[in-house]
Amino acid sequence: MTAEGGAGDGEVLTGGMVNAGAVFRRGGLVDRPAPCTARALHAHLRALEEHGFDAAPRPVRLTPDGREQLTYVPGDVPLPPFPRWAMTEGALRSVGGLLRRLHEACAAVAVDTSAAWPRALADPEGGTMLCHNDVCPDNVVFRDGRAVALIDFDLAAPGRPLWDVAMAARYWVPLLDPVSAAALYPAGLHAPTRLRILADSYGLSRHERAELPAVVEQATASCRAFVADRVADGDPVYTRTLAERGGWRRWDRVQEWLGDHRDGFTAALLD
Ligand SMILES: Nc1ncnc2c1ncn2[C@@H]1O[C@H](COP(=O)(O)OP(=O)(O)O)[C@@H](O)[C@H]1O
Ligand SMILES: [Mg+2]
Repeated sequence: MTAEGGAGDGEVLTGGMVNAGAVFRRGGLVDRPAPCTARALHAHLRALEEHGFDAAPRPVRLTPDGREQLTYVPGDVPLPPFPRWAMTEGALRSVGGLLRRLHEACAAVAVDTSAAWPRALADPEGGTMLCHNDVCPDNVVFRDGRAVALIDFDLAAPGRPLWDVAMAARYWVPLLDPVSAAALYPAGLHAPTRLRILADSYGLSRHERAELPAVVEQATASCRAFVADRVADGDPVYTRTLAERGGWRRWDRVQEWLGDHRDGFTAALLD
């Protein structure tokens, strides 16, 4: 689909919700609304690249009209309903490995503490490392069935690495009750097994594994609050998606299911 508008001619890239309809591709460049932390974020992405992390778009420029340009990363981005190829065990392992690589590079780059990092999906306990916070399928580029890049760092903020793993687990296991999962994911994904695969491929410590189920519940509550804020602000995309996916009852169901399965997840992670 092509579109004309504020950003000029370009192909509209679909996938996200926050900037729906406002992300364009022009050749090798992506043109999108710049987050308010863009300056600090671009510096951070450049520093990650200097530390050998090449699995993110390279920032190119900020424009005077409040947009940013980044390199387009060729490949396939899984969009809902998520295709089976994106939910294989190999794909899951590659996401765990990629997140680990991001965190190893992030651990070596000091966070700009003068930037107003968004609190929306940030680790409530804080931290010294910049987390991505939104490693959902729509923000991962694949090639040949393996995750090769993370995009959309708009919600990045300091936090514990474990928080980012919990956020990723929500989307990639997925950690949803069976009814909610069936609406977006292929059938037959066994949550405890896949949580273990993600933890193993990331290389989570035993201590972090013991904490992970509770952190997933915390992260889920943050995501619910994020949606609630958007809906309260009258955001049409979030309001429509919430209604289509079953309203707040779906969130109640997911949170109840997580609580019911906490011990099973802990066992799968530690045994
Ligand atoms: N640098 C990039 N390289 C490749 N694809 C991209 C890139 N940036 C965005 N996209 C595509 O555009 C979609 C929406 O972009 P994104 O920046 O994630 O928007 P949003 O902030 O709304 O989530 C993504 O899901 C992905 O498919
Ligand atoms: Mg996105």
